[in-house]
Amino acid sequence: MYEPGLEPIETASRDELTALQCDRLRATLHRVYAGVPHYRAAFDAAGVHPDDCRTLDDLARFPFTTKQDLRANYPFGLFAVPREELARLHCSSGTTGKPTVVGYTKADLDTWAALAARSIRAAGGRRGMLLHNAYGYGLFTGGLGLHAGAEHMGCTVVPVSGGMTERQVQLIEDFRPEIICATPSYMLAILDEFTRQGLDPQRCSLRIGIFGAEPWGEAMRQELESRLPLDAIDIYGLSEVMGPGIACECADSKDGPHIWEDHFYPEIIDPESGAVLPDGEAGELVFTSLSKQAMPVIRYRTRDLTRLLPGTARGMRRMAKIGGRSDDMIILRGVNLFPSQIEAQVLRCAALSGHFQIVLERPGRLDEMLVRAELRPEALGGEAQAREAKALAQHIKATIGISARVVVELPGSIERSLGKAQRVIDRRPRG
Ligand code: DLL
Repeated sequence: MYEPGLEPIETASRDELTALQCDRLRATLHRVYAGVPHYRAAFDAAGVHPDDCRTLDDLARFPFTTKQDLRANYPFGLFAVPREELARLHCSSGTTGKPTVVGYTKADLDTWAALAARSIRAAGGRRGMLLHNAYGYGLFTGGLGLHAGAEHMGCTVVPVSGGMTERQVQLIEDFRPEIICATPSYMLAILDEFTRQGLDPQRCSLRIGIFGAEPWGEAMRQELESRLPLDAIDIYGLSEVMGPGIACECADSKDGPHIWEDHFYPEIIDPESGAVLPDGEAGELVFTSLSKQAMPVIRYRTRDLTRLLPGTARGMRRMAKIGGRSDDMIILRGVNLFPSQIEAQVLRCAALSGHFQIVLERPGRLDEMLVRAELRPEALGGEAQAREAKALAQHIKATIGISARVVVELPGSIERSLGKAQRVIDRRPRG
């Protein structure tokens, strides 16, 4: 079942893993209680002490950490080491207000590189392969995170970052990388550029796509794999907990990301009550870091909605592909939906490219949803736009149960993102 060359912990028994998690968890709880005033106050207020944690289940007695806690301790209040011991800072993506700051010691950066390398390996990457890294470099963790992982693994990295899409295609054509790392929406933009230059993406050198940083469903996997000669692999992570490489799919199963549980302890909770749910049930993903030095997090609420599933290609548990974030949920005239559900319907229409945008408006008393989609260049002509708009509106009505206004625009009309796509524009008046 297991490939040669895996790390011993990847093939360890559940008992061995549990013992390691327990030791690391207790050490982490003691560490934050001793070194981070926020956690000491939060534990004291909840009436718990690190000594109360004897088994993994005892973690449920400890308080959650939220994005608000990170903001309240901006910029360096949650660090468990003096600022001078940090080797690097990153910020998490946020659209409003102050960003949330995260920090890493040199040892944390080494762990991160090893886990990003483990992820690349799970995706099918091997020493010596050429890796085109189109995740943004900078405060965003995607670019530098996968960069370090690829170097750790022994790949040849091309640190392209996002943007200058014409040049991305040129470098893929000239350098012939086997691996590409990008958000799935930016991969679609690179694909468009192949077509614009009259090149056939099916003939390119790419064999492995490591896609993440935004939700993408099975229909998008099919779209990417049918247009490119690669396996589309889902990689998951968030800055507050580390960055890319907290979980990654395995190339041979492609059945949801395996969580690297030796470093991150996952729980699924009911987002309303906070109660821990059994494996298999859908809820909000919560992580406790087990090895981080600079900024350990205890029961961090990710807002990502998923389920925990048993291990397959690896012993560690998997998470189902993320359908959405609790804060991305759209409530339209009483129906709850996520942008990923619209993505699935857009991709059912063969003449539509995967680019789309949702615009929420309130022209009168009721909310309305406009879905902007786009024709594929080869589908241009005749009544294609009107026909596809009608078909998409019908699919949305039949599967999600809402009436949306659909406009199908000409190829290239919808703004391309260089990283995470902005799927929802909310024009409703506030309050
Ligand atoms: O997006 C880290 C990352 C970079 C992951 C590159 C994968 C690849 P943040 O900017 O902090 O970090 O955003 C984290 O992005 O809570 C999810 O909502 C979303 N997200 C990340 N990966 C996936 C994924 C990076 N594979 C937030 N599927 C997370 C769905 C994802 N959503």
